[in-house]
Amino acid sequence: MNVDTTKFTAILDAANSKKRVSGFTHDFYNYPARFSPIFVREIINTFSNPGDLILDPFMGGGTTLVESKVLKRNSIGFDISSLAYFVSKVKTTSLSTKEIEGIIDWSFTFIPSLKCTGEYTRPTRWIEEGYLRNFTDKSIWPIRVLMEKYIHAVENLDSPPNVKNFLRAALLKSGQWAIDSKRIIPSTDEFRNKLLENISEMASAICTINESKKIKVICRNKPARKIHLDGTFKKLGSPKLILTSPPYPGVHVMYHRWQIQGRRETPAPFWIANGLDGHGLSHYTMGDRNQEGLRDYFLNIKKSFSSISKICDTNTIIVQVIAFSEPSWQLPKYLETMEAAGFTEFDISDSRMWRVVPNRKWYAHQKGSTNSSNELVLFHKLTN
Ligand SMILES: C[S@@+](CC[C@H](N)C(=O)[O-])C[C@H]1O[C@@H](n2cnc3c(N)ncnc32)[C@H](O)[C@@H]1O
Repeated sequence: MNVDTTKFTAILDAANSKKRVSGFTHDFYNYPARFSPIFVREIINTFSNPGDLILDPFMGGGTTLVESKVLKRNSIGFDISSLAYFVSKVKTTSLSTKEIEGIIDWSFTFIPSLKCTGEYTRPTRWIEEGYLRNFTDKSIWPIRVLMEKYIHAVENLDSPPNVKNFLRAALLKSGQWAIDSKRIIPSTDEFRNKLLENISEMASAICTINESKKIKVICRNKPARKIHLDGTFKKLGSPKLILTSPPYPGVHVMYHRWQIQGRRETPAPFWIANGLDGHGLSHYTMGDRNQEGLRDYFLNIKKSFSSISKICDTNTIIVQVIAFSEPSWQLPKYLETMEAAGFTEFDISDSRMWRVVPNRKWYAHQKGSTNSSNELVLFHKLTN
């Protein structure tokens, strides 16, 4: 693969960039372990052209899909989590000016009148199924009541699903701000204000992706091992670029819960996103991180990439960002698993791109020097 040194340096610089990406819809939700949009943009610009198809088999919060849309590439993303699906879908769905105006009008009329007192209809089915568990603390209940009333009102709006999902996403963002890992829970006044502020900001952000209306973005709430069964690739052909970060071997990331007051966990984000959970942590991380040799994890990676190999062609490039809890044995095992799935690693320079986590900076390292480093950018192509 011929990528000149300038490009390698540009990718390294982008990976190290501390700049915030303004605009777009990246800030709709803080998805755990999400990509740096600046890095994603650099990779997309380097390895694809406008009109190409880009796949993210583990899309998470949809960073790849948002950047693809803005850069005028078609994209498709898969994720086993309905929360990831919801967030990615809302971030990449354009709304008409009329819909945006309707959202603003409704919000600025309804939200200031939201009170936590008075009779209202509770989400009984969600409560019975445990989605609101640990969401009942003395400090949290007033906000929870506002959320329940807001969702009930949104459900009863005579509006298309795009609009309702946008309003739910604004609540999700505000709920994450108010509750997830927070020691001090805001007052209901503060919460209402934040919700209105988020709706206004998100409405402006959605306009920035509206310009790319003709670009296709497809989100699937399906596991990566089913990618080869998706008809999209028959219609649109093989992806030019696969840009992803899979779950990390042996690394604990809580993709599917909010932490209440630093201790207990709640699946409430699924209720807000109107999606089903019902699975433990290992469902989203491809297996138990304490399992000997991470057998399930590597089996899952093999099945996922074997499926992916069936929809690739010889021009498809895979770029992955991956972290390891124990790189010395997990990296060779990961590369071996990629080989078994039909892919060979290639170099874009003499070095690999590693990130040493203590100061969170990316470095170019000669192949083989993995000590004290644990995050890596990998490049693969179909084996000839
Ligand atoms: C590291 S995150 C991706 C973050 C993403 N790059 C972003 O910018 O937000 C990994 C994702 O893989 C998903 N996942 C886990 N197992 C999966 C599977 N078998 N198929 C598809 N997605 C899966 C998780 O739900 C999680 O959202």
